[in-house]
Amino acid sequence: MEHVYIESYGCQMNFADSEVVAAILIKEGYAMVQSAEEADFILINTCAIRDNAEQRIRKRIRELQALQNRHPQLRIGILGCMAERLQSQLMVEAENVSFVVGPDAYRKMPEILRQVREGMKAAETELSTVETYADIEPVRMNSNGISAYISIMRGCQNYCAYCVVPYTRGRERSRDPETIVNEARNLFAKGYKEVTLLGQNVNSYKWKSDAEEVGFPELMERVAQVSPLLRVRFATSHPKDLSDRLLEVMAKYDNICKCIHLPVQSGSDRMLKLMNRHYDSAWYLDRIAAIRRYMPDCSITTDVIAGFCTETEEDHQATLEMFRKVRYDYAFMFKFSLRPNTYAEKHLQDDISEAEKTRRLEEIIALQGEIALENNKQEIGRRYEVLVEGESHRSKEQLFGRNSQNKVIVFDRENVQPGEYVTVEVTDCTAATLKGKLVS
Ligand code: SAH
Ligand code: SF4
Ligand code: F3S
Repeated sequence: MEHVYIESYGCQMNFADSEVVAAILIKEGYAMVQSAEEADFILINTCAIRDNAEQRIRKRIRELQALQNRHPQLRIGILGCMAERLQSQLMVEAENVSFVVGPDAYRKMPEILRQVREGMKAAETELSTVETYADIEPVRMNSNGISAYISIMRGCQNYCAYCVVPYTRGRERSRDPETIVNEARNLFAKGYKEVTLLGQNVNSYKWKSDAEEVGFPELMERVAQVSPLLRVRFATSHPKDLSDRLLEVMAKYDNICKCIHLPVQSGSDRMLKLMNRHYDSAWYLDRIAAIRRYMPDCSITTDVIAGFCTETEEDHQATLEMFRKVRYDYAFMFKFSLRPNTYAEKHLQDDISEAEKTRRLEEIIALQGEIALENNKQEIGRRYEVLVEGESHRSKEQLFGRNSQNKVIVFDRENVQPGEYVTVEVTDCTAATLKGKLVS
């Protein structure tokens, strides 16, 4: 039996894809292993979103050369977004790479591994307009047995000016809702307590068949109805498509988690237009107000980019102002990285110096740190239902879990087991974590 090791980088979609790849290979008789040392094939599922993501993977490929010197039969393959972006060029760049497989070609993996075993090199990077891997039940790897991802759609065609995803993941397509609900049901039957529905823009989920038309709110409702004990989350929402209908559904079901990730990218209307985001700051703030209206206890998180093409100090200040207005619970904050083939690369100037990008990013990080701490301090004294995920990293005597708002809460374990729901009262906090005590 041949052994396969998969290493995943990038977003949750990539981690979910690795579980599809594992399912395809296990069905063909391969065994998945937990370390590169045991493997005959190493698969690296890559991300291309920023240049530093790609540099990290290039470094990892070079590092693996030493292992290959010791195990000459070992073959390395590159999967995912960087594979799609660079295709067979990757095998020229890195001679120790034997195969390259894009995100829509994973069904070809068994055939590719056969060719590679016979000493050939292979590249399969064709994108599809229909592939959703709907019929493949992912094999959960490195899972805590409590929460799992479910891909509900693939691709993106929003063409934000900075973003490579439309080029690496192809056209947007939605997966048959019945297969999604079945996957959620199967997970719940196996003891899972939380599913996260994944897509680049879940609000544009749309399934059409002769019998029905299903949008994202209807899909959420169907998944929420699997069981009141199954928590449902989703990522990511594009602000332009966040509907009141979805907020209504979220408010209606206790098991739909009260947490929305709504990437703002910038607080400046000029930047948002240049980024091709199809909303302005007023629209975005209206959506925030709508969230708070339907769900006063909903947490809100975001993504932001510092130093996009032509960003002025005034634009940057508008982003800081947006952060002050919304008061996010968490933010993923990035320096702009110019990506090949994007609108920005073809038509704009990456004219903000690295030092200036760093300064602006650090200002946003500092402000967000203050806001997160202030938000968390307000949590002290509140009680939450927490889904327990495991032992705290600091101490075996403590467990950690998340509340519906996706905030991590640490508490003394007593007789509680991972996978249980418990009520915890918040007693203390840092900017990143809440501490609490069990309420009997
Ligand atoms: N589909 C999601 C985002 C996926 S990429 C959405 O539209 O909300 C995750 C985040 O990476 C983006 O929200 C953006 O903030 C960041 N990002 C994407 N391209 C980038 C680039 N070229 N440079 C810096 N950050 C980038
Ligand atoms: Fe990229 Fe925009 Fe699509 Fe998100 S919506 S994946 S940022 S193009
Ligand atoms: Fe990266 Fe591809 Fe996700 S570029 S962020 S792994 S869709």
